[in-house]
This record gives sequence, structure tokens and C-alpha cells, in this order.
Amino acid sequence: MVKADPRLDGRAVNRILFDEARIAARVAELGAEITRAYPEGELLVLGLLKGSFIFLSDLVRQITRPLQVDFIVASSYGDATTSSGTVRLVYDPETKLEGKHILLVEDIVDTGRTLNRLMALLAARNPRSLEICALLDKKLKNELKYPVKFTGFDCPNEFVVGYGLDHAENFRHIPYIVSLQ
Ligand code: PRP
Repeated sequence: MVKADPRLDGRAVNRILFDEARIAARVAELGAEITRAYPEGELLVLGLLKGSFIFLSDLVRQITRPLQVDFIVASSYGDATTSSGTVRLVYDPETKLEGKHILLVEDIVDTGRTLNRLMALLAARNPRSLEICALLDKKLKNELKYPVKFTGFDCPNEFVVGYGLDHAENFRHIPYIVSLQ
């Protein structure tokens, strides 16, 4: 049982899936992997908002090579806890993508539908390379057609919140990742 956390607004939470220390250690490893993987060329780290905002901010500080940061906004969930399958583009990156290494940073791959749509859109902008970094991957469930080059953790098929991930826009600020089931 998780100790009472006032940030959870009295909500019952079964267990912490990934605590702060484990997340920090894995993000540091990912930063090192990404640094090694991109020896030359311009790197644009593209965060998919809103869910990736905390992960992205921690991750880029662990990448020890020049890079740029921009964001993309899509929406696939409303207030429900299951994906609608509809992906809506709300904000397009301002930065030119052509000729750059693009690393698309996602908090979680759930059904994979968001990334299937976004990867096709971004590939059409002629980047030098296009890869995915996802903190959490529900591998057993998703329909993702593209490889996730950098994965933080495999994620059980549960509804998870914290470290950027929300339920109806709540709980993004919880510094660890918990299951609401
Ligand atoms: C969530 C999550 C991923 C996407 C994954 O975003 O952050 O981006 O859904 O779902 P999928 O693999 O089933 O497509 P959401 O649309 O809830 O927006 P948010 O990032 O603002 O929370």
C-alpha cells in the first residue's frame, strides 16, 4: 500500500510502479545511450505534449551533446481511461525538421495509434533520421508499426499516472509513477 500522498487528493492507489530513484537512474542511462547513438549532425529532441514534459526536461539534461528542443501536440484521449483511437494535431513544431536527426519523445506507448500517425507525418518532413524514445511501453498491447529505439521501462497494461502522465489532467505532478487500478 502506498503511503498517503496529499497530491493524490484522497484517491486510493495500489502500488508505485516506478519510484523516483528508479526513474532517475533509467533516465540517466537513456541520456547516455542517446548521446552515444548520435555522433554527428543536428539533433532535435521533439517532445510530445503534454505527457512528456517532465520526462523530456529530465532527459535532455542527461544528453551530453548539442541539441535543440521543440514540441508537438496531439490528443488521443479525452477524460476517459481508454484510447478513443482519434488523434488530433493541435500544435506543429516551429523548427525546421529537414536534414536533422529527430528524436520523438513520448511518455507512454499505449495503443500505439498516436505514434503511428505522428511518425508518418514527421517522416514526410525529410528528417535525416527519425526515432522514438518512450519512457513507458505497453509492448504486449500496442499496434505500433515503428520500433521504439529508446525505451525506459516496459509497462504493465494498467492505467498509470504521475511523472507527466494524467487522469483527466490530474496527477501529472506526482514525481513517481503509480497504477490507478
Ligand atoms: C496519451 C499519452 C500518449 C498517448 C498514447 O496522450 O501521453 O501521447 O496518449 O496513447 P496511444 O498509444 O494509445 O495513442 P494524451 O492524448 O492523453 O495527451 P497528453 O499527453 O496531453 O496526456
